[in-house]
Amino acid sequence: MTEKKEIVKRGYDKIAKEYQADRHIFDNKRELEEFVSLLPWNAKVLDIGCGAAVPFIKFLVEYGCSVTGIDFSKSMLKLAKRNVPEAKFIKQDVTRLGLKANSFDGLTSSYCIIHIPREKHSSLFQSFHRILKPEGVMLISMGYSEWEGTDKYYGVNMFWSHYSPEKSLQTIENAGFQTVWDEITECGGERPYWILARNKK
Ligand SMILES: C[S@@+](CC[C@H](N)C(=O)[O-])C[C@H]1O[C@@H](n2cnc3c(N)ncnc32)[C@H](O)[C@@H]1O
Repeated sequence: MTEKKEIVKRGYDKIAKEYQADRHIFDNKRELEEFVSLLPWNAKVLDIGCGAAVPFIKFLVEYGCSVTGIDFSKSMLKLAKRNVPEAKFIKQDVTRLGLKANSFDGLTSSYCIIHIPREKHSSLFQSFHRILKPEGVMLISMGYSEWEGTDKYYGVNMFWSHYSPEKSLQTIENAGFQTVWDEITECGGERPYWILARNKK
């Protein structure tokens, strides 16, 4: 694993409990409601960089989805399994997804892709395109500005990497997605860039 990914993994292993305690600051109900409104009933959903599984996986399971969460932080996954035992969890680097093609109706990823080195974003979205069924729905958050670097976060070193919203959207559309809507929101003192898109095959 590269040093950048190690910083992120090590960081979340250390701060998982503090992150979970503050997670309610970011309210993503509106985005989640719009996402599920486009899914078939009993949809199979993959959550990328699931963290402690709240609020995303909890919301999706309560809605009736069958959910798989993926994360490489063992501390985050420990919390996730306790928070939503009904979901399935996989410990894995999400840039190395080996899941079957056309196997999910929906894919979510909140506040995770901003930690993945941006030169990997294009291949990451291509893997999402492969895993999702035709017309599958994707809800993701990206960075609101172009930046890459490390900084202190909850007292540990953390790494972030993102392109401008324009470049992120282009990368997603180039991978085979059609945008339903995209918006920079103000939420908990941060400005995530949300994209809801459909898989075109
Ligand atoms: C800011 S947290 C967000 C967690 C959750 N999605 C949420 O909304 O609360 C970012 C999560 O992404 C995970 N993550 C970052 N890069 C990853 C990678 N390459 N593979 C797997 N998980 C990754 C981290 O371990 C962490 O749990």
